[in-house]
Amino acid sequence: MSTAGAAVGLGNIWRFPYICGENGGGAFIVVYMILIFAIGMPIMISELTIGRASKKGSGGAFTKLIGNKKSKVWRTVGLLGVIIAFIVSSYYSIIAGWTLDYLYESFSGKLVHLSNSELQGYFDHFMGSDNAQIFWHVIFTLLTTLILSGGISSSVEWFNKITMPFLFLILIGLMVFSLNIELEGNWSNFFQSETIDFLFKPKWENFTRESFFRALGQAAFTLSIASGTMISYGSYLNKKEDVVNLSAIVVVMDTFVAILAGLMIFPIIFHYGLEPGSGTGLVFISLPSLFSQIPGGAIFSLVFYFLLCFAALSSSIAILEPVVTHLIDEVKYPRRIAAGLSGFLSLILGITWIKVSTLEHSGTFTNVDKLVSDLLIPIESVAICVFVGWALRKKLFLKTLNSHSPLFNEVLYFVVKWICPIGIFLILLNTF
Ligand code: TRP
Repeated sequence: MSTAGAAVGLGNIWRFPYICGENGGGAFIVVYMILIFAIGMPIMISELTIGRASKKGSGGAFTKLIGNKKSKVWRTVGLLGVIIAFIVSSYYSIIAGWTLDYLYESFSGKLVHLSNSELQGYFDHFMGSDNAQIFWHVIFTLLTTLILSGGISSSVEWFNKITMPFLFLILIGLMVFSLNIELEGNWSNFFQSETIDFLFKPKWENFTRESFFRALGQAAFTLSIASGTMISYGSYLNKKEDVVNLSAIVVVMDTFVAILAGLMIFPIIFHYGLEPGSGTGLVFISLPSLFSQIPGGAIFSLVFYFLLCFAALSSSIAILEPVVTHLIDEVKYPRRIAAGLSGFLSLILGITWIKVSTLEHSGTFTNVDKLVSDLLIPIESVAICVFVGWALRKKLFLKTLNSHSPLFNEVLYFVVKWICPIGIFLILLNTF
């Protein structure tokens, strides 16, 4: 559940719909699904295995497993995971801050009374206000840091077990409301609806070369791979757990949430003639207009943003944890100092993105996000595959998996050794 909590977050509900909207809908989903199962899942399995076999965080895991603490290459690969986690945490908490603001506004009851153009205006105004964004970014980072420094992540995970099923339920409920609005109550038109057409009928003409790249980045981002987290989580896994089963459950849950989010957002977009490719604000503009349309919308809005903030919090803890672990293990800081320092630095970097973005609509950190998830994460992913396929002993890998299907294990090993690195490399090559 913790692994699922790390995976399910803003990546599914905020990032997936807008990237899918910008990259042609159905065609994007087909490629995304293939990549998530053929590349994302094997890499997640590899990382969990590296963590489980080494009992270390990303910084020390690779060098420990090959028995050469001085290997510069593998130290760098381990460190790159930590750096990726650090950069992601700096902007992840900015978006999480937006959700806090929307939660606050749900409390004040302001959002449900706004029309579509006013909602767009509210979002634009919020984007233009550095202070408001910084305020919520500080609050969110503070929360994350406090939880990390108290070492009480386990209580958050416990709470997550309760809130996750509710998040599922509310997403399903909102999806029904939303589709009902688009279909205007006439469900017999379900298969002819614009949403179903957009999401499930691939139109390849809208899928560009860059879309491949975006699909790969989204698959990696949403599964939280290549950023140290899965290595740390692997090191906590209990002996009986089958890594392959565990990953399959997480991947399926994560994909399910993303598709649900799409089915919740796009009916509203099409019903009001909004633009599916309108970028990072997509969810923040369309959802409140859903809340203003449905019975009990104010309550729905409150509960939804609360659950979303929680999903974001469990992810943000997981994102910053590799950095904290690194400072504890490699620099020998006590936990409190390590958490405080990581939180502080991530805060400063986040404020920098906000300040630089002021003029252009959330431009800077969208580019940072692109750089990290579409470039650094794929590079780190290739390194992880090369490590498992070429540097680690095959026997150790297969034994650590604790999976009971020898045939599947062989296929998996082949995929990690050959298909994943070559596949990612070709996608990178195709784009540049
Ligand atoms: N997967 C998370 C989400 O969908 C975001 C994320 C990206 C993440 N990289 C991570 C979470 C690393 C934890 C660790 O919201």
